[in-house]
This record gives sequence, structure tokens and C-alpha cells, in this order.
Amino acid sequence: MQAIVMTGIGGPEVLVAQDVATPHPGVGELVIRAEAIPVLFPETKLRSGEFPMPVEPPVVFGFQAAGVVVEIGDEVDATLLGRRVTVATAGFGSYAEFVCAPASSVTMIPEDLSSADAAAVLMDGSVALPLLATAALTGSETVLIEAAATGVGSALTQLAREFGAARVIATAGGPEKSMRAKALGADEVIDHTAPDWPTRLRETLDGTTLDVVFDSIGGTTARDLLAAMTPVRGRILSYGWLSGAPAQISAMDLLPHGLTLTACAGPDWLAEVSRSGTAALERATAGTLTPRIDSVLSLDEAAKAHRLIEQRSPIGKIVLRP
Ligand SMILES: NC(=O)c1ccc[n+]([C@@H]2O[C@H](COP(=O)([O-])OP(=O)(O)OC[C@H]3O[C@@H](n4cnc5c(N)ncnc54)[C@H](OP(=O)(O)O)[C@@H]3O)[C@@H](O)[C@H]2O)c1
Repeated sequence: MQAIVMTGIGGPEVLVAQDVATPHPGVGELVIRAEAIPVLFPETKLRSGEFPMPVEPPVVFGFQAAGVVVEIGDEVDATLLGRRVTVATAGFGSYAEFVCAPASSVTMIPEDLSSADAAAVLMDGSVALPLLATAALTGSETVLIEAAATGVGSALTQLAREFGAARVIATAGGPEKSMRAKALGADEVIDHTAPDWPTRLRETLDGTTLDVVFDSIGGTTARDLLAAMTPVRGRILSYGWLSGAPAQISAMDLLPHGLTLTACAGPDWLAEVSRSGTAALERATAGTLTPRIDSVLSLDEAAKAHRLIEQRSPIGKIVLRP
């Protein structure tokens, strides 16, 4: 079969199309014929070495795929054969025509949802839903959603009001992405490519305060937001490091205002994310969470997809089609 092999840690050029052996399922595993493979932002960090790869290269790259179950291993429910599902691999192997994954990672794709839409919405929706549940918004609160035009931020922006946000302030990079964030449901958008954007945020707040920050940028900017937060009730949900480092905030920064920082990461958090897959796909089918596909590329264009993500140009997911 054709697959994209990560030949080493490095730039997008380490992702090379090769013919490799078709995988077969072990105990508790199944194999799907892939129809749509989402290219995920964190995958670019794993490829570049910024995040640790769970498996040493050379290895077939990739973490998620959507398609039809064509083979099952022992101890797997036989009714899964022929069903359309999404899967999460055990750390490798999704950029391929056939993908082997634990049967426990399966999310059924509703009949009315295409495999491409399921692939595009799965991660964004299943991270946004537990973030919103954790935020426990009251119906009268103001939220800040960083990097709101794409990915998890775009799902948060679509859902925030339904989950109890009264005012949604978003950040995005540049005019086109700012317009997109507004179209998704933000009341106001601040361009986070301006280094002084926290100052712009305080001007926008005009004396009011932020109750919840969905922080995907992290770094030192996170600390600049503390003065704009509601004392005692204000909470930061730290789930990303787009700036290259998690929120640089210590207990000494939080104590004077009684603020809370919740780390939305780690194995137990990811288990919660994984449990939210069905709800994300059901929402996409019902129309309460719209999948955003920037482009569909052929499998052998995986390196190009990584380049585009690193240039921050996609507005929506890039999906690979074998
Ligand atoms: N904790 C979890 O469960 C979890 C799960 C998935 C993802 N994440 C993390 O959440 C963050 C967002 O992921 P995603 O999948 O939603 O990403 P994404 O939206 O698909 O892509 C990243 C976007 O972030 C914006 N951005 C802002 N500052 C950036 C910077 N310094 N470098 C690159 N891009 C920057 C870019 O948009 P602009 O052009 O608008 O700036 C870019 O389009 C990442 O840090 C990711 O690792 C966490």
C-alpha cells in the first residue's frame, strides 16, 4: 500500500511517500481502508521534534483517520466490519491507505456525515466540548478565545454561547482570519499578530473583565492577561502552546487576584477528549458544529500540508485522501 513514512525528525521533507506492507490487526485491533486523514497542528510539532514522538522513525506517520473497517483482530466486535468509523492510532500509521488502530479508539460516523467532515471536526470538537464543560460558564460571563479562526478555537467560538458565554472576545491572525472568527460567533476580534494585543484587549474590555480565557497561545502573553481578569472567579484553561511554551504563570501571579489556572492536558484529560468524539460527530451531523475543510489533498501531498500549516495559511482543516 502507499503510505507516508516519517524518515527522521525534521522539516516537512522528512514525510516521504513509499510502498509499505499493508498492516493486519492484532488482538483488540482493527484495520480501516482510509477515506480521509486529518492533518493536525500538533502533528507538525511531533514531526519537527518539538514534541516527543511516541515511536522512533522511520515509521508510517499519523494519528487519526476516517474510513471503513475492513479487517478485525481477535476480541473485536464483529459487527464493526464494514462500518464507517474514525480511529486514533497508537502513535503512528494513519497517513496510509490502510490504518491499524485499537478497536477501543473507534468513533462511529453517523450516516449523514461524510468521512472528510468527520475527520475534519473530530479533534476540534472533542477538545472544545470538555474545555467548555470545564469552564462551567454561568450565562452572564465574558470569555476570551485565542486563535479562534481555526482548529479547537473555531469549535469553541461556534459553541461558546450555547454553553453559557454572554460575550465572546476572540483573537486571530490578520484581517481574513479575524473576519472568519467573527462569522463563527465572536462579538469582537483582536489581531494577535500585534505584539501589544493584550493592551488592545484591555481597551476593548473598557473596564469590564474576562471571566474565562481559553489559552492556546501560552508563553509570556498569558501573564499579560491576568490584570484583565475577574478577581476570584477568573479562570484560565491552558490547553495549547502556540507560542512555543505553555502559559508562563506561577502561583504568585494568580494569588493576588484569586485566579485559577486549569491545565487541560495529560493522559486523563486526553481520555476525556477521546470520550467526547461521539458527541462531536453528532453535533456535526445535527449542524450545531460545522466542520471546516480548507482543502483536500492527495496522500502523497502530506509534506505540502505540513508546510501550509506551518505557514499558518489554512482556514480550516487540511484532509488527505489516499
Ligand atoms: N490539550 C489538548 O487536548 C489539545 C488538543 C489539540 C490541540 N492542542 C493544542 O492547541 C493549540 C491549537 O491547536 P489547533 O489544532 O486548534 O491548531 P489550528 O487552529 O489548527 O492551527 C494553529 C493556529 O494557531 C494560530 N497561531 C497563533 N499563534 C501561533 C504561533 N505562534 N504559531 C503558529 N500558529 C499560531 C494560527 O492562526 P492565526 O493565523 O490566526 O494566528 C494557526 O492557524 C496547539 O498548541 C495544539 O498543540 C491541545
